[in-house]
Amino acid sequence: MDLGMAGRHAVVVGASRGIGAAVTRALVGEGAAVTAVARREAELHRFCTELEQLGADATPIVADATTPAGTARLVDGLAARGVAVDILVNNVGGARSAPVLELGDAEWSEALDTNLNSAVRLTAALVPGMVSRRWGRVVHVGSIAAREPGRMAAAYAAAKAALVAYSKALSAEVSRYGVLSNVVLPGATLTPSFQAEAVLVAQRLGITDEEATRRVMGRRQPALGRPCTAEEVANAVVFLCSDAARAITGVSLPVDGGTLLGT
Ligand SMILES: NC(=O)c1ccc[n+]([C@@H]2O[C@H](COP(=O)([O-])OP(=O)(O)OC[C@H]3O[C@@H](n4cnc5c(N)ncnc54)[C@H](OP(=O)(O)O)[C@@H]3O)[C@@H](O)[C@H]2O)c1
Repeated sequence: MDLGMAGRHAVVVGASRGIGAAVTRALVGEGAAVTAVARREAELHRFCTELEQLGADATPIVADATTPAGTARLVDGLAARGVAVDILVNNVGGARSAPVLELGDAEWSEALDTNLNSAVRLTAALVPGMVSRRWGRVVHVGSIAAREPGRMAAAYAAAKAALVAYSKALSAEVSRYGVLSNVVLPGATLTPSFQAEAVLVAQRLGITDEEATRRVMGRRQPALGRPCTAEEVANAVVFLCSDAARAITGVSLPVDGGTLLGT
């Protein structure tokens, strides 16, 4: 299948590790040029240099996507290079775990800034250009928590659910111009943040990494019997970014190894 990525320019936000890094690797592997965004300069530059040494077109921009200033820095950086963005992958996300009634204003604001507002702000800045060129893809990285919120992650789940609603509304508005918006919903995925949590649990409880991974997944045990890899989630993201997915818009696609119980 030809994914039609050659000549496309993608922006991947949250690109230096985990799912974002896997998406970036897969996009450049398909021939797209990528602007890779993260906050930690050294790690991001190391990642892009590694890709460039393999012949890829990967340019780093250091920015905090959760703030208006960070978004402006990113958009200015793209404009300074004269980049016309075809594909936007909004991958930044996460939140602290806490019982639902213990979440205060600060935790709610942080979860909404990280998981929703960052994506909304950047999408609003980049989609008009896609509309004028009559081709674009926006893929948001959500979570299965958007559909099945856990009691320790209410703000995270609510923000991811809002992201799904936002993507649907955006899709209704811009799909007729060839600009498609979709959400991928990962379940437990073997990324550095997930693995760090499992290592902590293993050390605290004196159990194996495998048992700790099962505990971190909690009640969300995938039908596959294992967590997904970042590359498996990236495959779905890249397909939705492709020309081959041109009739798919406004969906939220679980990539969770069969974790969600609903049909
Ligand atoms: N891993 C899972 O099990 C899982 C499950 C469901 C959903 N998800 C979702 O998948 C997405 C990626 O998760 P992940 O586990 O791959 O994350 P991760 O391993 O923690 O990697 C996060 C990436 O995003 C960058 N980043 C974080 N905050 C940023 C910010 N404010 N501005 C710019 N870049 C930022 C990080 O680099 P810097 O720190 O240098 O900025 C890093 O490159 C998130 O939206 C998460 O909610 C993950």
